[in-house]
Amino acid sequence: MESIDWKNLPFGYFKTDYNVRCYYKDGKWGGIEVTDSEFVTMHMAATCLHYGQEAFEGLKAFTGIDGKIRIFRLGENALRMQRSAKDILMAEVPVSLFEEMVIKAVKLNIKYVPPYGEGASLYIRPLLIGTGAEVGVKPGKEYLFMVFVGPVGPYFKEGFNPVKMQIVRDSDRAAPHGTGHIKVGGNYAASLRAGDRAHHEGYASAIFLDACEKKYIDEAGPANFFGIKNNTYVTPDSHSILPSITNMSLCVLAREMGLTVERRPFPVTELEEMEEVGACGTAAVISPIKEIHDRETGKVYHFCKDGKAGPVSTRLYEQLRAIQEGKAPDTHGWITVVE
Ligand code: PLP
Ligand code: COI
Repeated sequence: MESIDWKNLPFGYFKTDYNVRCYYKDGKWGGIEVTDSEFVTMHMAATCLHYGQEAFEGLKAFTGIDGKIRIFRLGENALRMQRSAKDILMAEVPVSLFEEMVIKAVKLNIKYVPPYGEGASLYIRPLLIGTGAEVGVKPGKEYLFMVFVGPVGPYFKEGFNPVKMQIVRDSDRAAPHGTGHIKVGGNYAASLRAGDRAHHEGYASAIFLDACEKKYIDEAGPANFFGIKNNTYVTPDSHSILPSITNMSLCVLAREMGLTVERRPFPVTELEEMEEVGACGTAAVISPIKEIHDRETGKVYHFCKDGKAGPVSTRLYEQLRAIQEGKAPDTHGWITVVE
């Protein structure tokens, strides 16, 4: 194997040795298959290709300070994929099958798990797609669940250095009663135009507002949003955002640090009062935000006046990373050690 420059890995696709697959047919899941092929052959009328029957997950494995490999919140990701499947009428992957396949994919590619201290991790991408042939709009009868993995660096090239983000008002990633709360491809298709434009205009990500009134913050592209003020962690409550497992974990850590946690609508105007703001997610971990530009109104909100992440975001980041790397005890049962 060519040596990998762990410190300079981008967040992107990385070819590894194997991926694992399981097919759902005649109302049941088959056996787990291991392959070295990066390709999927399917019927041209597959429901994932025409009607968006597709859901995915994103989680990470880390090498700890003790050399052990830890997967973060495996069970939560399995449950979220079940919710996604249920919502768009796909076959649900049993939690035990999901967990077994993720662990297998990590073990088969163990040499690609970045060593401790390189600032990189193994990104795990479970994917569920409708493969049955249909032409009328209806759910398919056949599904493929697969898991591939690859080493990654930070999602935003700045890593834990503060980024600039852009509020968009002419584009929505999800409708108020749509599919924003589940992890399906359609939400990401709907976010591409605004996200790509934000990148070209010099921002790390677009920030989407509630689609109805454009008054409240929803999400920061592929990550949840949070703000800190008066010793309080505030994060949006909305049906059109993905329930982030990282955010859920940060809420627990924030409470443990003595902060009050508020999950409620987050008015854009409240940004004026925030001491710190950030984006959080598996890929982004915590990405502190130094500037938010409202593209339509021209208003700019400034944070991180000294150019560095704020103290609360920093403590949250360090505590989360410490649990993931086995430096702090796993008191909540968030870790699966790969034996
Ligand atoms: N929001 C969106 C739209 C995402 O794609 C992700 C990534 O999974 C998140 C939030 C963060 O969720 P999690 O912390 O579970 O990775
Ligand atoms: C994640 O944070 O795991 C994501 O899936 C974000 C993005 C790569 C879709």
